[in-house]
Amino acid sequence: MTQSTSVVVGKVWEIPPGERKIVVPFRGRAGIGVFNVGGSFYAVRNICPHKHGPLCTGELSGRVDTDAPPSSQGAFISLEGLGEIVRCPWHQWPFEIATGRCLVAPEVRVATYPVKIRGDDVVVEYEE
Ligand code: FES
Repeated sequence: MTQSTSVVVGKVWEIPPGERKIVVPFRGRAGIGVFNVGGSFYAVRNICPHKHGPLCTGELSGRVDTDAPPSSQGAFISLEGLGEIVRCPWHQWPFEIATGRCLVAPEVRVATYPVKIRGDDVVVEYEE
């Protein structure tokens, strides 16, 4: 039988939009990254599924959108959803913070955990 556990990982004001907080330890020494993406909070395991890099310490980014192959002359390239993607600092694989999905290898995912706001506490839940 699984049991749900809740952990207060900080205060809402500690993680403003566009910022993150690395919480260690959390279910292991690598911990989690708690991200505020436009006012919505997400928790992501801080271990990249590629080669176990510290995923949540990586650069925030967005999805590349083009109207033609990027190498073609005159292609328009833009970044959509800036701040919704974290790039692993080791080999730059991009992961969607909300879902844990890897954009370059959709079968690869990093674990994510539900986040709730209780008063001004940020609370992360996981199953035992
Ligand atoms: S360890 Fe994260 S992309 Fe390689």
